Amino acid sequence: MTGMKVVHIGFLGCGNVGSGVWRLLESFGKDIQHRTDLSFHVKKVLVRDINKSRGIAFPEGVLTRKVEDVLEDPEISIVVEFLGGEEPAFTWLHRALESGKTVITANKVAFALHWHTLQKTAKEHASGLYYEAAVCGAIPIIHALEDSLQANRIDKIFGIVNGTTNYILTRMSKNNESYDDVLCEAQRLGLAEPDPAADVEGLDAAYKLSILASLAFHGRVPFENIYVEGITGIQAEDVRCGLELGYTLKLLAIAKRDGMSVETRVHPTFIRCDHPLANVSGSFNAVYLKGHACQEMMFLGRGAGDMPTASAIVSDLVRAASAQKHLYPTFDNEPIPAVALKKNMDWSCPYYIRLLAKDTPGVLSQIAKAFADQGVSIAAMQQKGGQRDGRVPLVFITHSAHEKAMQQAIHGIPREIATMESMIRVEEE
Ligand SMILES: NC(=O)c1ccc[n+]([C@@H]2O[C@H](COP(=O)([O-])OP(=O)(O)OC[C@H]3O[C@@H](n4cnc5c(N)ncnc54)[C@H](OP(=O)(O)O)[C@@H]3O)[C@@H](O)[C@H]2O)c1
Repeated sequence: MTGMKVVHIGFLGCGNVGSGVWRLLESFGKDIQHRTDLSFHVKKVLVRDINKSRGIAFPEGVLTRKVEDVLEDPEISIVVEFLGGEEPAFTWLHRALESGKTVITANKVAFALHWHTLQKTAKEHASGLYYEAAVCGAIPIIHALEDSLQANRIDKIFGIVNGTTNYILTRMSKNNESYDDVLCEAQRLGLAEPDPAADVEGLDAAYKLSILASLAFHGRVPFENIYVEGITGIQAEDVRCGLELGYTLKLLAIAKRDGMSVETRVHPTFIRCDHPLANVSGSFNAVYLKGHACQEMMFLGRGAGDMPTASAIVSDLVRAASAQKHLYPTFDNEPIPAVALKKNMDWSCPYYIRLLAKDTPGVLSQIAKAFADQGVSIAAMQQKGGQRDGRVPLVFITHSAHEKAMQQAIHGIPREIATMESMIRVEEE
């Protein structure tokens, strides 16, 4: 074929995602070559253990334990990283960019924490920096924000960006199972890591939100600016009560911009059962956003898995290898993050509160007073279930209230009359 360009690439890592990319290039590389005149040749693959079985017949000499074989080979123009974690990934990505190589990464941790430095180095050396696979696997949300939606002022993003927690909450909702039982089952099925902390404590979602919000708002939103609360304390009783009230529980990554102020938070959230996000079940991911011109939009797809993630990586490969000039997003608050965008920790939203209250006259009015003293008004109240040890479960849905006022209102309820069992934020969008 005339004009065909062979692009030599190096892999850093070859676990789930790396093997998926290898297999996708092997099975679909010819189709891509036919359309683009690009032929990708994986020259070196860095792993820890070259004897591990990976179900791939690597040609002699491709696997290596020495990172220099990838970073110092002048023929390798693109380094694709799927090691995971902050280090040594960041150091190696940085070195690749410094030597003029283009970097494609699936690693949200190293990327979210060091994006600023990586992008600065990429620009200085005219190297490309691509990261579609770092957020929501196969869903092309990065490209959509950088390119297709650039004529929009985006004010709001709601994301279900972690498949493990969505699987757990979906099972809890559908089968009324406990968190611990579903987590064990998810681990058995390989849908949750043996150490699930990064997923269930919300950190994975927060790394992704930092990337999404920065792109959507054209201002860097550092990971540290995100309020994070996971799903480990969620009780089946609350999932069930929420459903009875017309709400589904999701771990939502929420970003809102109001002028120069941003609120970014990841926490369990009740959303109306008729919201498009409420039907995003199991391990699927979704991003729902609102732009002033495009209005409401939702992206739905597979957020993890070898092939879905490889789909994003290989399209980044094609984009990077065909680019005349690499492009980089610009941010209002460069070079110092968080200067222009003010972090808002006192957001407002409705709340779901479950209390165990003493079953005696006057108790309700004392609770209502504690709420009213902080300007929190009650939208609905229900008694859920009968008396246990002289106490009854009461569920309140409030009107929109400030987070701080809500915390103080709860604090203001005397423990001898009622104890708080759960507080879950609600989005009425
Ligand atoms: N899994 C998914 O569905 C998914 C989806 C989107 C994004 N991602 C991201 O993609 C990245 C990789 O995920 P994964 O699931 O593919 O991980 P994985 O299966 O654990 O693979 C990691 C690979 O990196 C290699 N590696 C790790 N540290 C190394 C070191 N210090 N030196 C040399 N090699 C090293 C490992 O070598 P050995 O094989 O020899 O141990 C392994 O091949 C992560 O950042 C993850 O967040 C994953």
